[in-house]
Amino acid sequence: MTIFDIGTLDDFVHGEAAQVKRGDRVLVVVRIDDDVYVLDDRCSHEDFSLALGEVDVTTCEIECSRHGAMFNLKDGEPTSFPATRPVAHYDVLHDDGRLQVVVS
Ligand code: FES
Repeated sequence: MTIFDIGTLDDFVHGEAAQVKRGDRVLVVVRIDDDVYVLDDRCSHEDFSLALGEVDVTTCEIECSRHGAMFNLKDGEPTSFPATRPVAHYDVLHDDGRLQVVVS
């Protein structure tokens, strides 16, 4: 198991997606209120950055800006076409104010 420190809650803006690179991973990080969600920053439809997409804070989804597929930020599952496969999702630990992403 590998753990990546990605900073603090204040490093991320509510409702906006941010790309974070750690090691050989490229992640998309989304803060909604005090919750933080992390997925691989690669749409499962084609190789495209999800960090460029819009976040729907009411449904907790991110939209791929290339063809419009939506993904649930809580588990990486697609919620609309054209994507049919999930994007990898990672747990986030809150450790004394630091956000840590658990990558297996
Ligand atoms: S590349 Fe994301 S929906 Fe097509």
